[in-house]
Amino acid sequence: MSAAPLTNDQASRAPRKVGKAVQDAIDRGAPNIDLALLPNLTDLSAETLTANVIAINSLCENPRLKFVMEKLVTHIHDFAREVGLTTEEWMAAIQFLTATGQICSDIRQEFILLSDMLGLSALVDTLNHPKPEGATEATVLGPFFTEDAHDIPAGGTIASEGKGEYMFVEGRVTDMQGNGVAGCKIETWETDEDGLYDTQYEGRSQPDCRGRLTTDKDGYYSYRAVKPVAYPIPNDGPVGQFLRKLNRHVFRPAHLHMQFDAAGFEPLTTALYIRGDEYLTSDAVFGVKSSLVVDLKEIWDEDKAKALGFKSAPYYLLERDWKLITIEEAEVEKKKSLAAYYATIQGNN
Ligand code: BEZ
Ligand code: FE
Repeated sequence: MSAAPLTNDQASRAPRKVGKAVQDAIDRGAPNIDLALLPNLTDLSAETLTANVIAINSLCENPRLKFVMEKLVTHIHDFAREVGLTTEEWMAAIQFLTATGQICSDIRQEFILLSDMLGLSALVDTLNHPKPEGATEATVLGPFFTEDAHDIPAGGTIASEGKGEYMFVEGRVTDMQGNGVAGCKIETWETDEDGLYDTQYEGRSQPDCRGRLTTDKDGYYSYRAVKPVAYPIPNDGPVGQFLRKLNRHVFRPAHLHMQFDAAGFEPLTTALYIRGDEYLTSDAVFGVKSSLVVDLKEIWDEDKAKALGFKSAPYYLLERDWKLITIEEAEVEKKKSLAAYYATIQGNN
């Protein structure tokens, strides 16, 4: 008479005679699975491998992880079958990913860069932050945000002298109805006129071209910065080599990063892009949205320049308001976009 199959729970309690190596691994935390629950994984073919890998993953107790892994295995196996992936190509991919990991450090994140150049960062961003008409759109964070920006008073500067052409940035943060958002934290960062972030210089001792501001009681903010320039994404590593192989350029159009965080509102990571930049329509990391493209005004008034704290004219003026959505409004948008997605899947069936 054959024994009734054990539940997962019974299996972990049932004494099982195993060798020392197996017992040691189990003692160190390796899952002690009831083998009777598992599919037979012998003699798998190109046709049966996928279903069996999914089956063995299906004991996973986290339903989200189980679902994501089912899709990952399905798509990655289909990918290999569809392109007829060769062993050489598979090995080249392994070596590429190894090199990508090896170049990562506390201040260099080559995997995010890979995700960026594949358009995956922009896609995840869009999927996770659907916005109602009129709300400020989000865009890619990039790898150059740091936690150590100094607090800057209203009208203060984020850039030390000599870092680029002067720019004054001002505007208002509001909710969707146009009410000012008081006490909103704004993180802002940019490159200097040579297209380098402070973290790209050896021996960085303190933050530069980055700062943290707080909106006033009516939602207003203002600060001094430098006129953004176009610059190459880091391209001296595996991702740069990959882009060269694909015959793709490595440039981002001139932009100014801004991140907003206010109680009760969905945090917003975004950037402004400067009209006229030649890379606006071919950003290496797919971050440009036309609602985020702005005009700069060149101001030659010497008195105004000095009153704002610049040494002399000219300076560029960037005026920009922002519309944040509340956490509740964000939830509504996410539900709407999920419903729209399910409707398209149903429509396709
Ligand atoms: C950036 O804008 O800082 C950036 C974004 C993606 C990749 C590299 C840089
Ligand atoms: Fe940037």
